[in-house]
Amino acid sequence: MKGIVFTELSEMIEEQFGDDMMDTIIEASQLPSGGSYTAVGTYDHTEILQLVTALSAETNLAVPKLVFSFGEHLYKYFYSHYPAFFNESTNAYDFLASVENHIHVEVRKLYPDAELPSFDCRRIDPDQFEMIYRSSRPFEDVAEGLITASCRHYHESILIQRENIQDENGPGVRFLLTKQ
Ligand code: HEM
Repeated sequence: MKGIVFTELSEMIEEQFGDDMMDTIIEASQLPSGGSYTAVGTYDHTEILQLVTALSAETNLAVPKLVFSFGEHLYKYFYSHYPAFFNESTNAYDFLASVENHIHVEVRKLYPDAELPSFDCRRIDPDQFEMIYRSSRPFEDVAEGLITASCRHYHESILIQRENIQDENGPGVRFLLTKQ
């Protein structure tokens, strides 16, 4: 996974839990990389989970809740660095559909080794939109944080329901979005 994901996790932890927390959880985690991340490096995605598990032990906050917050934090990073992607869409559903068919396609061109999920998107009716997340990594809470923050970005009030599914394409997580 790209170093940027790790440097942003570190940023979020400093912001929310203070300067020393990152050092504390790095020490507790015994990471293969040693925990010194640079934005241009590439690291094993399981280190994210090790760090968040250690953070959960320190803070008593549940791992999924922390991973969700990390998704919300990543939104801020993406919006401040790549505002054009957001400005190309005028509403949340068009933007979310563009993640699979445009944004991550561009990311892949820039970083051929990027580890990206896939999203099967479907407009059910004007109010409902479905996204099926599939990845070999268990980052559906990151996805939910990013989806939630994206809906907020367009000032739309959208209910997000989520269920694990299993179909002919294998396991996935289905997000059903409904305008309120
Ligand atoms: C401007 C907007 C966005 C940009 C530039 C972007 C780019 C990226 C990059 C660089 C990564 C890391 C790849 C790696 O480390 O190898 C990533 C991962 C990911 N992105 Fe996006 N992304 C954007 C928006 C979104 C949105 C809105 C969603 C949710 C619908 C999303 C879902 C994910 C997830 C869940 C991952 C983690 C990898 C996985 O689950 O397998 N991204 N994205």
